[in-house]
Amino acid sequence: MRLVLLGPPGAGKGTQAQVLCKDKGWAHLSSGDILRGEVKAGTELGAKAKAFMDAGQLVPDDLVVNMMVSRIARPDCAGGFVLDGFPRTAVQAEALDKALARSGRPLDGVVSLEVRDDEVVRRISGRRTCPQCGAIYHVQTLRPKVDDVCDRCGHRGLTQRADDREEVVGQRLVAYRRQTEPLIEYYRRAGLLEQVSAEQPIDQVRAELDEALGRRQGAVGGASA
Ligand code: AP5
Repeated sequence: MRLVLLGPPGAGKGTQAQVLCKDKGWAHLSSGDILRGEVKAGTELGAKAKAFMDAGQLVPDDLVVNMMVSRIARPDCAGGFVLDGFPRTAVQAEALDKALARSGRPLDGVVSLEVRDDEVVRRISGRRTCPQCGAIYHVQTLRPKVDDVCDRCGHRGLTQRADDREEVVGQRLVAYRRQTEPLIEYYRRAGLLEQVSAEQPIDQVRAELDEALGRRQGAVGGASA
């Protein structure tokens, strides 16, 4: 299945995409993780993106579109993928549609994870991530089995993202409401949209996500699950 997860910062896109892709064998393509990898590797793209990311603003469309369209063309995406954090603007959504139409593999569905701003701030201020494998935790709601040690890869030392400071989170929310939220209507008109309340425990969100994917599979006539 070829799926987009939409939603504000902290909605749980990464949390849900990691579990879903592990279960289904799909590729998890997080534009934020890919950009952070470019920054860490000191590439030209990373250098251009860093100032926007640090300020909580969107990285320019041309940079992100080229990066993601070439990522989707890689062989690990042939069996299905989940896009997490991309597209985020109308320009990106149209570019994605065109690229997928050229390859004859259009999107099967778009799930919007919906959550209020005050809950976003609570989640993001408590988020910790593993700098080695990217696993996501929360200091209250999703703690690792051993304090400060990643369950998935055993790395010691979970970290807070540089753009998770409160003033930057406010900017990221503004960018989401202005530039990304209009995509909900774009995908509703395309007949691809499912909406799920993300203000429930992680397992409950996952259960509703599975139901939404079931409806999408029915609609597209049985894409592989
Ligand atoms: P990106 O990395 O994509 O960040 P984001 O969209 O702001 O989303 P987050 O990763 O913060 O949240 P999430 O929804 O994945 O939540 P998570 O699962 O971690 O983008 C970062 C920056 O990169 C952007 O600001 C921009 O500069 C740039 N960028 C990226 N893509 C771009 C694009 N396409 N165009 C332009 N620029 C781009 O969960 C959050 C926390 O909540 C965790 O601690 C988790 O444990 C907890 N949690 C999750 N679900 C629940 C639940 N149901 N109940 C309780 N807690 C929960």
